[in-house]
Amino acid sequence: MKPRLVSGMQPTGLLHIGNLEGALANWVRLQDEYEAYFFVADWHALTSLYDRTELITKHTREVAIDFLAAGLDPDKCAIFVQSDVKEHAELHLLLSMVTPVAWLERVPSYKEKLAELRPLVSSPSERQGKDSSAPGREGYRGRPEAISYGLMGYPVLQTADILAYKADGAPVGRDQLPHLELAREIGRRFNYLYGPTFPECRALMTEYPEMPGLDGRKMSKSYDNAIYIADSEQQTIEKVRSMYTDPLKVHRHDKGHREGCAVYKMMAAYGRADLHEDCEAGRIGCVETKDRLAALLNKRLAPIRERRRYFEANPSVVDGVLAAGAKKARKTARETLEQVRAAMRLRRE
Ligand code: TRP
Repeated sequence: MKPRLVSGMQPTGLLHIGNLEGALANWVRLQDEYEAYFFVADWHALTSLYDRTELITKHTREVAIDFLAAGLDPDKCAIFVQSDVKEHAELHLLLSMVTPVAWLERVPSYKEKLAELRPLVSSPSERQGKDSSAPGREGYRGRPEAISYGLMGYPVLQTADILAYKADGAPVGRDQLPHLELAREIGRRFNYLYGPTFPECRALMTEYPEMPGLDGRKMSKSYDNAIYIADSEQQTIEKVRSMYTDPLKVHRHDKGHREGCAVYKMMAAYGRADLHEDCEAGRIGCVETKDRLAALLNKRLAPIRERRRYFEANPSVVDGVLAAGAKKARKTARETLEQVRAAMRLRRE
């Protein structure tokens, strides 16, 4: 029997090449060695988009298509939407009864949101560091009602996602480590109270260099600096042409520097720092270097985009994949919940 693996992504928008290289490509590699469950975490998205739910519905489909385009294979793993498997909700409720509120108050992502409620920073030096053009800059400020019971329970729902499959591993990014730690703590507490039921879930981390965005900051939807899987070749070329480069290189024959050059950083993230050497030697200009990067990206993305077009043109295929994925996931989750109810001496279904 293969060890089990679970991971999810929130449907907050189209997936970009940072999501692809940092997470999805790794999922694609893992789907052979593990019994894998990959889902779109639409209930998790409600913690922030509860007043714009139409976005969740739209993005859920886009993310599922991006999963398939990236190479997740429905014959190898279960690909599904979280809310199609109601067992996640039942387990979330049961786990919420044995999760101390004090544990949730310690979770860094929750503390950050609470911190946003505090008054605006006032010293000029503090204000300078803030990017006032970033969307959503107000965050939770002035909206204490946006810190909901459900938001505080976000990591409990994530724990339910994992324990519903008795997963041995979860491929996640560094920012998710506190959530995984909490999942282990909740699992241990359950086992202590009701008898051994859940295995320990390890975080399967991949060290992948940070993908820079067009402006050199980390690539992120919210910075509007991303290259999307769904972008066309032409859009990719134009976006790369707009990328931030070494300000000291003005003329073609000036020697370029790696520091502060987003193009270099992206090439390096793809293991192709060598494509930057002609620039550093003053042999070529930025436009040419950028076109090299765009060609690299378009080549890497070509088969992914082709699959994406296929699934976009065939919505019933996508529906079929999600239905089959939910069925497979439900079967496993149902077995777990039977064991959970028995361990807790609750009524049987
Ligand atoms: N919280 C995760 C994120 O934002 C998404 C997620 C939800 C998840 N449930 C999960 C990841 C279960 C791993 C396992 O990235």
